[in-house]
Amino acid sequence: MTRHTYSGLHQSLHWATFALFLVQLWTYPAIGRTHHAPHFGVPIDPFDLFLHQVHAISGGLILVFAIVRLWLRHRTPVIPPRFPYPALSTISKLAHLALYTTLILLPITGFLKMYIISAAGLVHILLTRLLYVLLVLHVVGVLVHILIWRDGLLERMGIKLPLQR
Ligand code: HEM
Ligand code: HEM
Repeated sequence: MTRHTYSGLHQSLHWATFALFLVQLWTYPAIGRTHHAPHFGVPIDPFDLFLHQVHAISGGLILVFAIVRLWLRHRTPVIPPRFPYPALSTISKLAHLALYTTLILLPITGFLKMYIISAAGLVHILLTRLLYVLLVLHVVGVLVHILIWRDGLLERMGIKLPLQR
């Protein structure tokens, strides 16, 4: 069986992941502060410690959501959107694969840095840069769909826009 749009569950997990990504951006500065405080001889702010935990839990949820989404799309494939050039379809598939891979490796390296090997922190930071690049590509791609081709792509993720074909 195949589908033409993502299921309600897949759509919810997509937007929840976006929200959790914003949580990661909000909480990460607290991690640096908790690590630096002892070096400056000041006590760790308990709220920063809390935000550090929130970062780890939210990252863990992002991992679980990515795995569930991969399972959902494997179980019921979604027919890909149309592109005017076939090469763009390949680029889109590769970008989605890279996004899923990054969403899985980020929590793994974050966990490794926190509990097992400190050097994983650098990989974690580099992966955040890769994620930013992929997200810019992702959002630019969506904008081309909805502003230039006006093919109603966002409807596949549950958002119905006006002025689409
Ligand atoms: C943290 C931010 C985001 C991440 C990690 C992310 C990740 C992904 C991934 C991995 C897919 C592929 C789904 C699949 O084929 O299984 C996808 C699809 C999609 N995303 Fe995002 N996304 C993010 C933010 C956004 C935003 C801000 C928009 C809207 C501007 C958006 C719109 C879409 C749409 C419309 C699709 C469906 C594409 C299709 O029809 O195949 N995403 N997203
Ligand atoms: C997709 C999930 C995640 C995202 C998007 C994310 C994002 C970030 C960002 C933006 C930073 C700051 C990088 C910088 O200093 O420029 C960071 C640092 C960090 N994150 Fe995450 N994170 C995720 C998951 C996790 C998880 C699950 C854990 C722990 C269990 C974690 C632990 C850490 C630690 C310890 C640092 C500090 C790294 C260092 O300074 O060496 N992260 N994260």
